[in-house]
Amino acid sequence: MCGIFGIVTNEKKNLGPILISAGRRLSYRGYDTVGAATIPERGDIDLRKDVGKVDEVASRLKFEELTGNRAILQLRWATFGAPSQINAQPHLDSYGDLVGAHNGNIVNNVELRKQFLQEGMIVRSENDGESCVHAVERYANQGYDMVEAIRHAYNDLEGDYAFVIGKVGEDRLYAIKKGSGLVAGIGDDSTYISSDLPSILPLTKKIFRIQDGEIVIFWADRIELRNVEDGRLIQREPEIVEESMESVQKGGYAHFMLKEIHEQPKVAGDLLHLLDNTKEVDAMVERMANARNLYLVGCGTSYHACLLGSVYLNRLTGKASIPILAPQFIAQYGTTLTSDDVGIFVSQSGETKDVLNAINLAQEKKMGILGIANVVGSTLTQVSEHHIPLACGYEISVPATKTFSNQVIAFLYLAMRMGGHDTKALAKLPEWLTKTLESIQNQIPKIENRVSAWNDLYILGYGLTYPIALEGALKLKEITYAHCEGMLSTEFKHGPLSAVRDGYPVIFVAGPEDTSLIVSGINEITCRGGHAIAIGKADARLQNNANDAIELPQIDAPDNLEPYIDALMSILPLQLLSYRISVSRGYDPDFPRNLSKTLTVD
Ligand code: G6P
Repeated sequence: MCGIFGIVTNEKKNLGPILISAGRRLSYRGYDTVGAATIPERGDIDLRKDVGKVDEVASRLKFEELTGNRAILQLRWATFGAPSQINAQPHLDSYGDLVGAHNGNIVNNVELRKQFLQEGMIVRSENDGESCVHAVERYANQGYDMVEAIRHAYNDLEGDYAFVIGKVGEDRLYAIKKGSGLVAGIGDDSTYISSDLPSILPLTKKIFRIQDGEIVIFWADRIELRNVEDGRLIQREPEIVEESMESVQKGGYAHFMLKEIHEQPKVAGDLLHLLDNTKEVDAMVERMANARNLYLVGCGTSYHACLLGSVYLNRLTGKASIPILAPQFIAQYGTTLTSDDVGIFVSQSGETKDVLNAINLAQEKKMGILGIANVVGSTLTQVSEHHIPLACGYEISVPATKTFSNQVIAFLYLAMRMGGHDTKALAKLPEWLTKTLESIQNQIPKIENRVSAWNDLYILGYGLTYPIALEGALKLKEITYAHCEGMLSTEFKHGPLSAVRDGYPVIFVAGPEDTSLIVSGINEITCRGGHAIAIGKADARLQNNANDAIELPQIDAPDNLEPYIDALMSILPLQLLSYRISVSRGYDPDFPRNLSKTLTVD
C-alpha cells in the first residue's frame, strides 16, 4: 500500500540519499510508482516521479541531486488512476505553490475532481492524492492559512488517508491523519513524518504516534499537534522507541521471506514466553467462553489462521466458533450481531481496512472485541478490549510466514487454556519447527521443477490440513503468479477433477488422522495420469500411492496434540516451495507485483 515520508531540516542540504533510503524502507508495503519533491523558500518545487522501483526511478531521475530543507517522498500503490507518471505522487496544486502526497483512499475523488475543474483549478491526473492538494488549495486561495485550509479540506475529503503537504515560501510541512498510519519523529537537526515506524527509526527514536483527527505541523526543530475539529493545540510528549533496526535487515539471507521462514522457531518461542506471562490470555478466554457467538475474523493469511483456530477451539474446548472473512462478516452476520457476541479480529498489520470495517460494525453492535495482531500500536491493538501481540518483530516480506505460524500458535494456546489443557506441552514447539525446517530443506528440490512447470494446480487438505491447503495455495499464488487453488480434498471430485491430465500436479497435505481419505484422493488423481505429491509424516500408504512424498519429521508431541502440531508443521514445506519457485522464475518474493503488505483501502 502507498507510503509517505516527509523531512524538514535546519539548513539546506542534499536530501536525495535520505529520501532514497526512506523509499527503500517503505517499499515493503508494495507500490507501482515513486516520487519525490523538494520545496524551496523561493522558486520552483523540484518534483520528480515515475513508474518503477525505488532504485530504478531514483537513478533515472537523479534523486541524489535533490537538495533543500524540506522534502516529501511517496510510493504509490495504484487505486485511483493507472500506475503512470502523471498519476504518480506527489502532486502540485494549480500553480505549483503547494505539493503533497497521500496514503489511503479518497472515496469522493471523482466528485471532487469535477468541482475543482469547475472552480478553475488545473487538475493533471486522475489520482486521489491530487484531490487532497486541491482540497487545501481551494481554501488557501480564499486566504486561509495552511492549518485552517487543511482543517476545511478535511471536511471535504471522504475516506481514510494520511496526507503530507508543503508550501513554497514557508519553513515547515504539514500532515494529517484519518484512518491510515502516520508517525512523526524529531531528530537532532530535522523532523520527519512517515506512514510507519520502521522508515523513521534509523533517523530518530524520538517519535509521536499520530492519532486520527490530528494535524502535524513540523519545523526543523519542533513538532506541533493540533486537533482538526477545533484547531486547538494538543499537548503530548514524544515517546522514545527502543526497537532496534536489526530485525529489518536481511541478516545474510537472499530475501526477507527466507529469513522470516527461518525465524519461525525463534518467534514461536518468543510468543510462548509472552503468552505464559500475560494476563491477556485469561481475560480473552473468559470473554470467549461466555460469548453467545464467537466469530474469528480476518483476511488473507490471517483468515486461514482463523480457520485452523476454529478447528482447534472446537476440538479442544467443545465451543463452536465461526471463522469468517472480514467483509463477509458484515454482509452475512451484520444484522444478527448483539452485545453478547464476541469477535477475535486477526491481522498481521492491525490496519487492514476490511478488518477495521468489521470492527466498526462490532463496535456499533457493542460486541466484545478481542485482537490478535503483530504490529503493536496498530489500530487493531488500540481498539481491542484485550489482545495478543504476535511477537514476530517486523515482517517485511509481503507473503506472511512467521506471523501465520504465530497466529496459529496463539489460537492453539487460547484453545488449550480454554479447554483446561496444560500449555507447557507446547514448550518444545521451537524445537519441532527447527527440526521440520531442517528435514524439508533437501526434500523440496525434488518436487520444485515439476510444480514450477505448471501455471495452474491444486493443493488439497482435509480437516486440520484444509486451512493449510488454502494458505499454501495463497503463498504460491502471491509469489509465483501461478493460479493455485486450495481446496477440501473431498470436494475435488465434485468438479475440479476434470482438470486432471497427464502430469497434472496435485499436492495433498495429509494429517495423520485422515491418511486413508487422502490416499483415496491421491488415487483419483494418479489413475487419471495426474501427479500426486503428498506432504505428511512418513507413512507407507502415502509413499506407495503418491508419485512424490515430502516427509515431515517425527516429533515428540503428546498424542492428544500431535495432529494439531502436524497441521502447523505442514505449512513450512509449502512456504519454502513457493519461495524457491518464485526465485527460480526470476520474481522478487518479498515484493510481488500488484500486492501490498498493508491494505488500508476497501
Ligand atoms: C494483504 C496481504 C496478505 C495478507 C492480507 C491480510 O492482502 O497481501 O498477505 O494476508 O493483506 O493482512 P493482515 O495484515 O490483516 O494480516
